[in-house]
Amino acid sequence: MSNPTEPTPPSSAPVVPRPQVPHRDLLQLTVLPDEAELRADIVRLRAENNAVILAHNYQRPEVQGIADFVGDSLGLSRMAARTDADVIVFAGVHFMAETAAILNPEKTVLLPDLRAGCSLADTVTAQGIRDWKAKNPGGLVVTYVNTTADVKAVSDYCCTSGNAVQIVQSLPEGVPILFAPDRFLAAHVIRETGRQMDVWDGACHVHEAIRPEDVQGQQAAYPDAELLIHPECGCSSRILSAIPDLQLYSTEGMIGRAKTSAAQEFIVVTETGMVTRLEHDVPDKTFIPVSRTACCEYMKMITLENIRDSLLNLQPRVTVPEDIRAQALKPIERMLAIG
Ligand code: 13P
Ligand code: SF4
Repeated sequence: MSNPTEPTPPSSAPVVPRPQVPHRDLLQLTVLPDEAELRADIVRLRAENNAVILAHNYQRPEVQGIADFVGDSLGLSRMAARTDADVIVFAGVHFMAETAAILNPEKTVLLPDLRAGCSLADTVTAQGIRDWKAKNPGGLVVTYVNTTADVKAVSDYCCTSGNAVQIVQSLPEGVPILFAPDRFLAAHVIRETGRQMDVWDGACHVHEAIRPEDVQGQQAAYPDAELLIHPECGCSSRILSAIPDLQLYSTEGMIGRAKTSAAQEFIVVTETGMVTRLEHDVPDKTFIPVSRTACCEYMKMITLENIRDSLLNLQPRVTVPEDIRAQALKPIERMLAIG
């Protein structure tokens, strides 16, 4: 006789598994968007919003591909100053979007991912500059455009890697110059101008990490290649002591040099995104990145997806309080007037 409390013996019916969380969610993966669809959405939303997409030379290839203008910090500032679009989508980092907002208070400036910062800009604060000025009365403060609006607001001149030499050369002789924040760019300016400057101890983590050994390794692999070195690079002083005549180039300067040089191959000593721009503009020559790890994670935060979303929502916006904006505009305008 069977016991009524005993469990029912397993039937021969197939076991139906309990509903499960889809694997995709367990792995926290999202379905990759269709790139052609994303592009079409961006093109439509850009036209509907009378927007312009400005991209830095270090952006991802597909972002450079959709942009209206791709350039260096100086070229992007110039484009931001002259655009008649209502909306500027900045495919770059926060200080670049801020510069566009300073130049265009009436326009909507979008930065598709607000986390896109800059390690170099983070090395200096407005208070740091005020204290420095207090210790050096009468000094003129020249700050790299890779700084926050607050820092620009307490600066006398801005510069980029494309015009730093020209800006410092234009300053009256005998006046103390305080140069911030990049110490490698400062060393380049001192070499080129012969001017003495007090220098802030800042650097970009990507450029600082490029070692002379990385350059020498690629030179051994590509002995006929010409070097294109950005002045923010930590390796630049040691390489220059071995090759004193070597020129350093801003990212835009690299394009000009690659076009006019007789060389067919180039070792690109800066952030890897620059190779995309060089391959696009100078398609008949070969460009070798100095190191695969010379990659700025902030620059790569901008994607087709977040560009589409920013145009859809007109967010996230970058704005600058009016008192800071008015002060920060002066050194930027002085820079644009000089070079
Ligand atoms: P340029 O575009 O001025 O060459 O600057 C390089 C850079 O690191 C920008 O973040
Ligand atoms: Fe800043 Fe360096 Fe990135 Fe340029 S490459 S945005 S300087 S962290």
